[in-house]
Amino acid sequence: MKGAQLLYSGKAKSIYRGETPNRLIMEFRDDITAFDGTKKNVLSEKGAFNCCVSAFLFELLEREGIRTHYLGRLDRTTMLVKALTMIPLEVVVRNRAAGSIVRNFSFTEGQILNPPVIVIDLKDDSRHDPMLNDDLILALKLVTPDELVELKEIALAINGTLSEFLDGQGILLVDLKLEFGRAEGEITLGDEISMDSMRLWDKETGRSMDKDVYRFDKGDVMGTYRAVARRITGGRCEV
Ligand code: C5P
Repeated sequence: MKGAQLLYSGKAKSIYRGETPNRLIMEFRDDITAFDGTKKNVLSEKGAFNCCVSAFLFELLEREGIRTHYLGRLDRTTMLVKALTMIPLEVVVRNRAAGSIVRNFSFTEGQILNPPVIVIDLKDDSRHDPMLNDDLILALKLVTPDELVELKEIALAINGTLSEFLDGQGILLVDLKLEFGRAEGEITLGDEISMDSMRLWDKETGRSMDKDVYRFDKGDVMGTYRAVARRITGGRCEV
């Protein structure tokens, strides 16, 4: 990202000032982290695969009329996005029980959640992203009551669109994490939609095809990312 001004660097992505107002450049780095950043590695080409899959899925959502920050891909690891005022919430939509809700509640791994369960966490690593409820979200004034309703409606619409699309590729969307912001007052999907932010299981084998492979040392992380990117995009992410 020669010449561009770095505005923010997160655990796996960096944000640079764009060339025009209200435009930012989002760079997907090869860093991968888990467990609040206590496990970390650098995996060659991971940024390119996540950037490519995110771009592909943002385009899919835009075609379905869902407002996203995505404006276009710049190169293999960067995309141009609208500047959003981010809302510090992680909106997780769950179609099957896995991960933290199996650890925290009496669900069994893989249990169908119908209707899908929305869990909203505070995005704050220093507090380990605690789970919120509607009253807390409103008391913290993170969104208005109307925005909270809208956030959930959009999250469910995104989950429905992506579940149906991935199902067609033989992939079960177990859960996904979404982050939203405001642009010109409108709630807009930001961040990424990738193997780092979704839990994906092969429909036939039940095998993990996402960051759980890294978190729990389940096998070849980049081999998995490459294979799932190929399946999701029909080969458009080959590097
Ligand atoms: O860990 P947990 O089960 O709560 O994660 C739910 C979903 O949200 C998973 O797909 C996970 O990859 C994603 N997630 C994320 N970023 C976080 C926490 C969870 O992308 N900080």
